[in-house]
Amino acid sequence: MSSKKEILVTGGAGYIGSHTVVELIEAGYTPIILDDFRNSQKWIIDRIEDLTGNSIQVHEVDCCDEVAVEEVFNLYPNISGVIHFAADKAVGESVQNPLKYYSNNLSSLTVILKAMDNHDIKTLVFSSSCTVYGEPEKIPVTESTPIKEATSPYGDTKIISERIIKAEVDANKSLNAILLRYFNPIGAHPSGKIGELPQGIPNNLVPYITQTAKGIREELTVFGNDYDTVDGTNVRDYIHVVDLAKAHVAALDYANNQNEYSCEAFNIGTGKGSSVLEIVHAFEKVNNLKLNYKIGPRRSGDVVAIYAEVDKAKKALNWSSELDIDTALKDSWNWESNGIHNED
Ligand code: WQD
Repeated sequence: MSSKKEILVTGGAGYIGSHTVVELIEAGYTPIILDDFRNSQKWIIDRIEDLTGNSIQVHEVDCCDEVAVEEVFNLYPNISGVIHFAADKAVGESVQNPLKYYSNNLSSLTVILKAMDNHDIKTLVFSSSCTVYGEPEKIPVTESTPIKEATSPYGDTKIISERIIKAEVDANKSLNAILLRYFNPIGAHPSGKIGELPQGIPNNLVPYITQTAKGIREELTVFGNDYDTVDGTNVRDYIHVVDLAKAHVAALDYANNQNEYSCEAFNIGTGKGSSVLEIVHAFEKVNNLKLNYKIGPRRSGDVVAIYAEVDKAKKALNWSSELDIDTALKDSWNWESNGIHNED
């Protein structure tokens, strides 16, 4: 029986991090969370423990704090890998406050890489984003679709982070790094115990939809319907967060079986595109409600259309998405209407 492999999960109390911690436990790993709770609530940890029946080791640490990070790594001599989620991720905010994004997202990564090197940890799964593709010439995008000039400091930090990791792999010659390029994560755990907790007014489409349905927001504005797409609204690849979480377990399993150093990117999406209005109408239908929305002006920086070609993850990671949009939108609504209670 293989020992329960200890995995350090930075940002493990966040939206994707918390769902990944649940799936790690289900798969027999022992996750250790590093999180400074700037973008999450502590009661999420209680919910994860409820869900899995396991107690979780949690360290309230800023990943930019080299001394504090080193102290945590010293506590766990058997860490077999790191999943690095911790980063700021609001595109709009990054345009207003670029220095916050460049310093936090890049310093936290270099601190984690240095600690991994000091402790001879060979496996890294990094949270990247389809943002690195910018506005693609051709869709669906593959992992060899050219990386474009970033359209936001947030996107730029993901491009630069991938380059930092690649350079470290080539220099260190013993690290196995997996770069997971997420498309658009949506949904929540079917139990309704964990989900997305946007800070303030949601930037992203689905939390804005659920908050509108709940009456927290007046109405949803659809940012433009004059694009060259099926119905004039932007197209994205929306993936259920539980499927996305499972991709991290598959990536760890894959990295642990590599016998020499490598740095590989994988598109983590469904391989299907959905327009904004298709999401709105699916949400109304699957939850049997009417959503208050209007068509407004375009949002600057929006990509017209992007969705993933997912063959590489299917073949190499033996992973593909299983949950459909309707399930994700039902789970999102269940979380919004029954799951979110401030238990602090
Ligand atoms: C999706 C579509 C909007 C809100 C961003 C990041 C990406 C990832 C996911 C972190 C767009 C439209 C939205 C609203 C709307 N984040 N929309 N009204 O911009 O595709 O991707 O979040 O990893 O890196 O770039 O996601 O949900 O903001 O927008 O019409 O109130 O919904 O115009 O077409 P996006 P999004």
